[in-house]
Amino acid sequence: MKIGIDKIGFAMPKYYLDIEDLAIGRNANPNKFKKGLMQLEMSVSPVSQDIVTLGSAAAYEILDSSDREKIDMIIMCTETGIDHSKAASVFIHNLLKIQPFTRSVEIKEACYGATAGLNFAKNHIEKNPDSYVLVIASDIAKYGINSQGESTQGAGSCAMLLKKNPKLLILNDDNVFHTRDIMDFWRPNYSKYPCVNGHFSAKQYLDCLTVIWNEYLKRNSKTLEDFEAVCFHLPYPKLGLKGLQSLFPESFTKEMKDKFLKNFESSIVYNQKIGNIYTGSLYLSLLSLLENSNNLKSGDSIAMYSYGSGAVGEIFSVTLAENFKKSLRIDRKTEFSKRHRLSVNEYEKIFFEEITVNEEGNFDLNNSDDSIFSLEKIENHKRIYKSNIKK
Ligand code: CAA
Repeated sequence: MKIGIDKIGFAMPKYYLDIEDLAIGRNANPNKFKKGLMQLEMSVSPVSQDIVTLGSAAAYEILDSSDREKIDMIIMCTETGIDHSKAASVFIHNLLKIQPFTRSVEIKEACYGATAGLNFAKNHIEKNPDSYVLVIASDIAKYGINSQGESTQGAGSCAMLLKKNPKLLILNDDNVFHTRDIMDFWRPNYSKYPCVNGHFSAKQYLDCLTVIWNEYLKRNSKTLEDFEAVCFHLPYPKLGLKGLQSLFPESFTKEMKDKFLKNFESSIVYNQKIGNIYTGSLYLSLLSLLENSNNLKSGDSIAMYSYGSGAVGEIFSVTLAENFKKSLRIDRKTEFSKRHRLSVNEYEKIFFEEITVNEEGNFDLNNSDDSIFSLEKIENHKRIYKSNIKK
C-alpha cells in the first residue's frame, strides 16, 4: 500500500521584519545575515497568534468537508507548547470541526518532531487503510532581543494530510535515524528562550548529517544520483547549503552539482522569507521546492534530512506521485505580498509582548486580529480562541 502526503498547507503570521533592518538596528553588516546566513526576512507573530492558530490556519488551507469526516488522528509536533498537559491538537480538532472519533496528541523532540509524526501517521494508516491523519508542525522561534540567534527567528506552521494513495508524494520505507545526547540547543521548563551553543549546534547538525547519510546509503544501497533534490531542516538556509555541498562525492561533475544546487535554490525561497520555524522548517522547504522548482516530475525521489537538537536526526526519501502538481494550488506569492513590514521598534514590541494573567487567571488581548483563527482572551486560565470562518 502506498502511503504519503496528499496535501501540504502553510500558514504564517501577517507581520515580517526585513533582515537588513534588523542588521542596521543591531549595528551589524547586513551581508552577515543576507550572505552569511542567506536569510532575507523574518516572520513575526503577535500575541494573538500561537501554535494553535497557525496550525489551524495551515490545515484550514487544505481540508475539505470530506477530509474532516475521514481524519481520525491529529498529531501536533512542536517545541513551542502552550500547555504542559493539554495537547494543542485538541484545540485544533475543535476549531476545524473534525469528526469526534479522533485521537489527538502532541509530540516533541526539538525540530525533529514532525518527522516522528509522519512515521506515526504512516503506521496508523498501515493498520487502518481508510484513515486520514493530520500532522501539524507549528512553532514560534524566539531567541530574544539582541541575542546571537535573533537573526534566525521565525514563526509559522505546516499542515500535512496523510492517506493511502496520496496525490502529492509517497513516503518510502528507507528511514535511517540517529540519537546522540548533546546540549547544542535546549529550553529548560523555566526559561522563555532557548539556551544555545550556536557554533557547536551547527557543527553537530553537519556531523549528524554525515553519519546518517553514510549509513543511509549503505543500508539502502543508494547514491546521491538516485535523487533529484535534497531537502534539509533549515535553521537558516546557509547551513542547508553547507550540508548539501558535504554530500557531493568527489566524482561529481559540475553539471551534477548544478542540478542539486538549482533545486536547493527553489527549496529555500519560502524559508528565506519566514526564518526558522523549528519542526516545520524541513516541510516548508519541501513545499518551497515543490512550488518553485520547474524541473521535477512524477516518480522523482527527494532525500529529506531532519534534525532536532538534543539531538535526533533522520534521513528518508519521498517519491513524487503521478500528477503531483495538481495538489499544489495556492498562489503563495499573493499570500506573501499581503504581509505587513514592521520597523525594528514595532518588531520588538509585537514579537515580545507577553501574556500576564491577573489573579483570576484572566487576560484580555483587546483582539483586533482579523486572521482566520486568533487567540481572543485567557479566562480563568483557559485559552479562548476566535474563528473568523464564514458560516
Ligand atoms: N559578509 C558575508 N558573510 C559574513 C559577514 C559579511 N559581512 N560577516 C559574517 N559573515 C558570515 C560568517 O563567516 C559566518 O559564515 P560561516 O559560518 O560560513 O563562516 C556567518 O556569516 C555567520 O557569522 P557568525 O558565525 O559570526 O555569526 P554568529 O556567531 O553571530 O551567529 C549562529 C551564527 C551561531 C548560527 C547564530 O545565528 C545562532 O546561534 N543561531 C541559532 C542556532 C542555530 O540556528 N543552530 C543551527 C543548528 S541547530 C538546529 O538546526 C536546530 C534549530 O533549528 C535551532
